[in-house]
Amino acid sequence: MRNKIIAGNWKMNMDLTGSIELIEELSIELKYVQKCDVVFCPPFPLLLPVKEAMKNTRFELGAQNMFWEDKGAYTGEVSANMLLSVGCNYVILGHSERRKYFNETNETVNKRVQKALLAGLKPIVCIGETLEERESEQTRSVIENQLKYDLQGFCRDDVVNLILAYEPIWAIGTGKTATPDQAVEVHQFIRDLLSKLYDEELAQIVRIQYGGSVNNANARDLLGRSDIDGALVGGASLKAQQFAKIVEAGELNS
Ligand code: 13P
Repeated sequence: MRNKIIAGNWKMNMDLTGSIELIEELSIELKYVQKCDVVFCPPFPLLLPVKEAMKNTRFELGAQNMFWEDKGAYTGEVSANMLLSVGCNYVILGHSERRKYFNETNETVNKRVQKALLAGLKPIVCIGETLEERESEQTRSVIENQLKYDLQGFCRDDVVNLILAYEPIWAIGTGKTATPDQAVEVHQFIRDLLSKLYDEELAQIVRIQYGGSVNNANARDLLGRSDIDGALVGGASLKAQQFAKIVEAGELNS
C-alpha cells in the first residue's frame, strides 16, 4: 500500500515569526503521526528557519521551485544544491501558478524535474486542466500531454522517485473541490498512462496527490479513496488546526 503524503504549499505567504509558530504548534499536535508523510513547502527565505523549527519531528522540507542550472549569473534563481544544503528533500515543480504567471512550459518543467532527480531531490510534479478544458472535455488529452512532456526522457528508476500532483486549476483557491469521484477518475487515468509509458508495477508505486481546495471538511472523503495518495494543500496549510485535520485523515488512511 502507498502511504499518504500531505504537503503544505504555503505559496507566497507567512513570515518568520508566523512560520515558526505554525511548525511548533503542529509539532505537538502531530506527534502521533507515524505512517503519513508530512512535508512543508515554505517560501525560500523561510526554508532554513522552518527546518530548524521542525527538528525532532518526522516533518520534511520542500521548496516551491528551483532552476536547472548549478550556479551562475541567474539573478533571483536558486539551484538544487542550495535546496539540499538547507535540508530540503522535496521540490514542487510545474505548479500551475508558475506556468501561468512565470511562463513555465512543459519543456522548462522537464528540465527542472531532470535536474532535481539528478541532485537527489524528490520532485512533486503538478499537472491539471483549466475549467475551459474540462468543460470542453479535454481533461484527458491535457493531462496526457503534460505528463508525457514533463516526464520525457526519464527512465523507470527516475519516475520511482517523483510524486505527481493532480491539481485541477479550477479547484485551486476557489473553494470548488473536485469530488472524490472526479479526482479518482483522473488519478486512474494517470496511473493507466504510467502503466503504458513504463509498466504496471511502476504505475502502482508512484504516489499521486490531489490538490485544489483541500480542507478539513473534505480531506476524509478524498483521502479515504485508495487512488488518492495524498494532498497538496494551499490555503488550509496556513492554519494549524485545519492542516492537522488533513494530516489526521492521511494518517488514518495510510
Ligand atoms: P488551495 O488548497 O489553496 O486551493 O491551493 C492548492 C494548491 O495550489 C496547492 O499547490
